[in-house]
Amino acid sequence: MLLGAATLTILAACGDERAALTPDLTAAALPERADAVRGRQWISDYGCLACHAVPTVRGPASSVGPPLGNVGRQAYLTGLLPNTPDNLVRWLMDPPAINPRTSMPNVGLSQAEAEDIAAFLLSLPASPEPS
Ligand code: HEC
Repeated sequence: MLLGAATLTILAACGDERAALTPDLTAAALPERADAVRGRQWISDYGCLACHAVPTVRGPASSVGPPLGNVGRQAYLTGLLPNTPDNLVRWLMDPPAINPRTSMPNVGLSQAEAEDIAAFLLSLPASPEPS
């Protein structure tokens, strides 16, 4: 009987966790000033394409880092950070501050630039991998 109650509690906890893992995929949480069109331009200007394939942005189609076409649909960023617009901006601004062992460098984005890029990435439609 006790065991049954414990099992139920665990199942309930799992259910909650699954709900918590559902990413907040809307760009709505970004400030109004965030501009996806500018964000797409920053991706070219800051050399993201040296490491990432990004849909609609022409570049060398590098696969040093993961393709970014489905970032908006992932539960986690880099398998570490729950995927929210805020966390995406944090990651873009200073990856080593979040994971000191990551090979993505801090490229020196301002907060506004990172917000623009986040708005762009979160606006991409689902793309077949590799994107
Ligand atoms: C020198 C290579 C390099 C450059 C330049 C670079 N990245 Fe990355 N990026 C990576 C790597 C490698 C990862 C995977 C990091 C990890 O898992 O720790 C990554 C991860 C990411 C992620 C998380 C992806 C995921 O699937 O969770 C995003 C978003 C991202 N990069 C965006 C950018 C943007 C935007 C730029 C340009 C401003 C950029 N990166 C520049 C190498 C790079």
